[in-house]
Amino acid sequence: MIPLDSLIELRGVHAGYEGVEVLRGIDLVVPAGQVLAVLGPNGAGKTTLLSVIAGLVRPTRGDVLFGGRRVTGVDPVALARAGLCLIPEGRGVFANLTVAENLWLAAGSDRSREVVESRAFEVFPRLGERRDQLAGSLSGGEQQMVALSRALVSDPAVLLLDELSMGLAPMVVDDLYRRVVDIARMGVTVVVVEQFVRTISHIADRGIAVISGRIVLDGRIEEISPQLHSAYFSSSEEVST
Ligand SMILES: Nc1ncnc2c1ncn2[C@@H]1O[C@H](COP(=O)(O)OP(=O)(O)OP(=O)(O)O)[C@@H](O)[C@H]1O
Ligand SMILES: [Mg+2]
Repeated sequence: MIPLDSLIELRGVHAGYEGVEVLRGIDLVVPAGQVLAVLGPNGAGKTTLLSVIAGLVRPTRGDVLFGGRRVTGVDPVALARAGLCLIPEGRGVFANLTVAENLWLAAGSDRSREVVESRAFEVFPRLGERRDQLAGSLSGGEQQMVALSRALVSDPAVLLLDELSMGLAPMVVDDLYRRVVDIARMGVTVVVVEQFVRTISHIADRGIAVISGRIVLDGRIEEISPQLHSAYFSSSEEVST
């Protein structure tokens, strides 16, 4: 039975690249409105999991459901139009376009540019000051603000965030995640990948730990946190022996 409020569901998903299996049987239900943290060590399959949800990697087995409908194999552009917004690892901005142009692209053609800009600049005034600057010349934190603004102006149902914190100072990361909380409060379901639980412990309702392509822990962050260390450790033992 599908829980009524299930927004994203993965059923027995296996996926990988050119014959190498990365995800090895993922069952996951993400209810609407949840902020879910996907934790796990390097190479565990966290990015692959987001890519499967966004339609960028097609499962070799199993199914993906969005709003109760099977979307396995559906084109990622169609999924984006249906409300899935992926902010990929390493900043999803167009470096050769200005801040304003990045925002217009994200919002599509049916919204006025003034409305789009005012919405983004209200949340990130610093971007307003840099409206005509090329996104590639912004600082790392500012580039992530542009990436998050894409989510703000495209009104997604689901925001998929991949290691927003990468290479940024902890204070910048905290500030960005405060905006993510604001976005979640608007009713957006958020799936956020992070390697370290402390980065997102205060914003996520629930956490899963992915190790070697399987979900090994699933629960409230405070419940799973104490078990993470030993789960990571036993996974590295597995690799080294
Ligand atoms: N495009 C690709 N082609 C081939 N192999 C890939 C590709 N992308 C990822 N992989 C491999 O799949 C495995 C899982 O990668 P994935 O990026 O999902 O891990 P991750 O948990 O996001 O790791 P990290 O914390 O380092 O970002 C790794 O062994 C990686 O080398
Ligand atoms: Mg990754």
